[in-house]
Amino acid sequence: MEVITAKNAGFCFGVKKAVDMVESQAKENTGKNIFTYGPIIHNEEVVKSLEEKGVHAVRSKEELDKIACDTNNVMIIRSHGISKAEQDELIKKGFEIIDATCPFVKRIHNTVREESEKGKHIIIIGNKNHPEVEGIMGWSTTPPTVIESLEEVDDINFEKDTSYCVVAQTTFNHNKFKEIVEKIQTLGYDVNVVTTICNATYERQSESRKIAAKVDTMIVIGDTHSSNSKKLYEICKEECEDTHFIQTLDDLNLDLTKSVRLVGITAGASTPDYIIEEVQNYVRVDF
Ligand code: F3S
Repeated sequence: MEVITAKNAGFCFGVKKAVDMVESQAKENTGKNIFTYGPIIHNEEVVKSLEEKGVHAVRSKEELDKIACDTNNVMIIRSHGISKAEQDELIKKGFEIIDATCPFVKRIHNTVREESEKGKHIIIIGNKNHPEVEGIMGWSTTPPTVIESLEEVDDINFEKDTSYCVVAQTTFNHNKFKEIVEKIQTLGYDVNVVTTICNATYERQSESRKIAAKVDTMIVIGDTHSSNSKKLYEICKEECEDTHFIQTLDDLNLDLTKSVRLVGITAGASTPDYIIEEVQNYVRVDF
């Protein structure tokens, strides 16, 4: 039995940095109350284990409002980032802020702030309900527009005297972004496009596709609530009929009656290394 594990499996650079920051805060044990602004990643096991180490994930505005103002409170901002208004509110509530916003997301915040301050209309290509996009919107000083499909370009009320700046959610699909931008550019308005898509997702997907195409069995590890993990499963399933989607090793149920010689393993962006290693060791040893 041979096993190929994707090099890009699991945490991307931004998420790894954020998780490391939370863990080092928990370890330092400064006596402060440590909070994260939402679960640090889409993985309940990791969030639970951080909770046991004294790191509490604030999941709603109501929950935040209940936290009494205390200079002993530390809030860690996750890799998705937050809006300027949210940041101001945290400062007002006396939180010490530790900013684990991914630098690629931070770059979008800065672009949006600078370009909107020049009077430009910001167009964000992405999912308006995603926390990253909500955060980006909140750095624009002019009312931004969010679209995620080619059809929605028709709904934008473009004006001759306005300049536009287009950015994208970091995980947006490359080809779809290109199509939307091309459609906007053919309309002939003053549009400046900043390509802000991060390659981590694309690289993970294309590497996983290549591996799935050559193995007998493919294992995708990820949280069932994580959209990037589900997407990874779909991609692998297209290439390899015997693809399994699991959250942890406990879910793995391989069909041993098949002659499986080569197994591929990949994992979504919120899967910690230790789960990948557990699955990898199990498959290596037991089959
Ligand atoms: Fe990850 Fe940052 Fe890219 S959080 S997906 S490295 S934008």
